[in-house]
Amino acid sequence: MSDKATLSLGDTTYSLNVFTGTENEQALDVRQLRKDSGLITFDDGYGNTGSCESSVTYIDGDKGILRYRGYDIAELAKKSNFLEVCLLLLNGELPSKEELTSFEQKVATFQNLPPEVLQSVQSMPAGLHPMGSLGSGLQALGGSFPHLCTNDRAKDLENFDDAAALIIASLPALAAANHRKMTGEDYKHPLSSGNYCENFLSMMFSQEGDSPINPSLSKALDLIFLLHADHEQNCSTSTCRMIASGGANPFASLAGAVSALWGPLHGGANMAVINMLNDIHQSGDDGSKFIQSAKEGKSRLMGFGHRVYRNYDPRAKILKSACDQALEALGVSSPILDIARRLEEVALQDPYFIDRKLYPNVDFYSGIILQAMGFPTNTFTVLFAIGRAPGWLAHWKEIAQTGKKIHRPRQIYQGSNLRDYKTIEDR
Ligand code: SDX
Repeated sequence: MSDKATLSLGDTTYSLNVFTGTENEQALDVRQLRKDSGLITFDDGYGNTGSCESSVTYIDGDKGILRYRGYDIAELAKKSNFLEVCLLLLNGELPSKEELTSFEQKVATFQNLPPEVLQSVQSMPAGLHPMGSLGSGLQALGGSFPHLCTNDRAKDLENFDDAAALIIASLPALAAANHRKMTGEDYKHPLSSGNYCENFLSMMFSQEGDSPINPSLSKALDLIFLLHADHEQNCSTSTCRMIASGGANPFASLAGAVSALWGPLHGGANMAVINMLNDIHQSGDDGSKFIQSAKEGKSRLMGFGHRVYRNYDPRAKILKSACDQALEALGVSSPILDIARRLEEVALQDPYFIDRKLYPNVDFYSGIILQAMGFPTNTFTVLFAIGRAPGWLAHWKEIAQTGKKIHRPRQIYQGSNLRDYKTIEDR
């Protein structure tokens, strides 16, 4: 593979370096282009632009490959668990038994919200969406641990392990506190025993005297968190990196990432999928009419398509089979699962979707399991954020450790040229 490229502009040629990643991806290094030629590159939406070198996650969109720190997502889904994957993403290696046990204990100690943070969640406006509550709660959490969010990179890196454990532990508690506020119930303290997901389900839904959490439920939720844990330079992770590049602490960087994830084209899609499936079900359509409207550009088949995957999202494959197990364990049938299956079957045979390489993505099936578990639809993206937190944190750490410059893209100006001020009488 060549390590040089030349760019000819008029009668001048510029030599540009080409460099190769560990998976043989190649990039044209344009870092000197503006200085040498006055030219910038243009790529609105950054679909063809590498913003960084990263070692956290590898995706091959054409082959439908996803690996965290080199480990394939299907193998991790089968053999690992969410907290172990958190350490893998944060530290770059699978943890030893001692490291995992110590992390689990640290997370368990942080799973109860500080009273002032709980109070801040409970005093937020009733109309605030759970994603708005989560982002605000994250910032409030940082305020309870100011030594973990100093905006001094060296200090924030030194305390990063505690900050990461605190955030991973507290996001479920923030979600549960907001949920119980919305349902008019008192905050439920974490269990003294139970694993991460059992604790979260208990804080969300348990009533006095309830039987213990169904292990199949906590296992299905653990898988959903694991599958959402990272996804290289997606919209919210790039936002996290952008904020981190300015030297901001992990709490502020993740609060920004939560806002980016909220959008319906990104993490908000899991809510949009369920609303879409419920609407189709209620309209009596078997999905055919909806597919037609999507082909006419009147609607979008939410949970389908991806900026990177031009093949089946490997996470969707895993979730599709997990749906059956989860629903069976719950002893519930789901009419919307049947509709989802039919939509997928029709879409995967339709030239409109085939030509555009539109396949189910991670959001297409996740919401069906979450709805069957009893999560309100408007909390689905919050669950995505809980899963994605270790990925955001790993990218914050990567930026902080590599000391990269502040991110500052350029632009091509298309506005008015110089003009003189006119007094209001002359306008
Ligand atoms: C996530 O980046 C990540 O890694 C994200 C994520 C992660 O883990 O962080 O994987 C999580 O965000 C998954 C994506 C969730 N979003 C949705 O499911 C929303 C529905 N999907 C689309 O809005 C869309 O596919 C996007 C936003 C995901 C990707 O959009 P692109 O690649 O920019 O594609 P496009 O909008 O340029 O569309 C290309 C063509 C268009 O048709 P034409 O103009 O060529 O005729 O495909 C069509 C689009 O109309 N199209 C769809 C479609 N998605 C694209 N048509 C119907 N239904 C869809 N879902």
